Amino acid sequence: MNDARLQQQIDAASAYEDLFVPALFEQWTSRIAESAGVGPGQRVLDVACGTGVLSREVARRVGDEGYAAGLDLLPGMLEVARRLAPDIEWRQGSAEALPYPDESFDAVVSQFGMMFFPDPVKALREMFRVLLPGGRFAIAVWAAITAMPAYAEEVALLERMAGGAAADALRAPFALGESARLHEIARAAGADDIAVETHAGMANFPSIRSLVEADLRGWLPVMGVALEESLIQQILAEAETTHAAYIDPRGRAVFALAAHILTGTRT
Ligand SMILES: C[S@@+](CC[C@H](N)C(=O)[O-])C[C@H]1O[C@@H](n2cnc3c(N)ncnc32)[C@H](O)[C@@H]1O
Repeated sequence: MNDARLQQQIDAASAYEDLFVPALFEQWTSRIAESAGVGPGQRVLDVACGTGVLSREVARRVGDEGYAAGLDLLPGMLEVARRLAPDIEWRQGSAEALPYPDESFDAVVSQFGMMFFPDPVKALREMFRVLLPGGRFAIAVWAAITAMPAYAEEVALLERMAGGAAADALRAPFALGESARLHEIARAAGADDIAVETHAGMANFPSIRSLVEADLRGWLPVMGVALEESLIQQILAEAETTHAAYIDPRGRAVFALAAHILTGTRT
């Protein structure tokens, strides 16, 4: 990757860390670490770590005697992760081909990445492979978009104003929202001792504008959808009306979230 392309990725990852992480992702880290039984002295891997918010929580929990590692596909995400926590081991790679030997971790965690893996069954098999016998995994994915009306309405807004490709790009993160699908993936990967629990959370963005702008400028281009500036401005203006119900007294956009956490043990 050339320097300009890497810098673009680093800028996008910094924007992700500043806006999306506090608004959406940080709140799940304790629950996932607890679901995987992460504790002092353990060796733990965070798959699809992004800028590393879950890896940092894991590193705090395993302490100096433990070992925390974060893996992601994108060098830009990892560069931001490394700047925030130089002591964690960051590695570039794919969830479907983990660059670690068999039986090297007490726990494997992953949040909000699995819906983007081209082959989630293969990725889950890989997580089993690197787990020690008796080791635990915990993987979070967003619940169905119908459980999050603010996003369902944003998809409808995009469908109406920007077309099907833009709407589909915003639907993509919710692709594993049916818990039956998670059971199917786990069974296909050979896991029998698993559980899927649905947890409630809250989105908290500085404003309606920042919520929608993050998706239009920060997410759609990642999915290959670039909108004209004039259309972005029209959508932002319209969202002030369609999403008025989600404005709290401080002007922040606050609304309910739901996520499934898939857990299991390597027997
Ligand atoms: C929504 S972000 C979540 C990042 C992080 N877990 C968090 O909670 O902030 C999804 C991440 O999955 C990564 N990803 C997507 N497909 C991947 C794959 N096949 N292998 C590894 N990472 C992948 C992306 O690069 C991105 O960093």
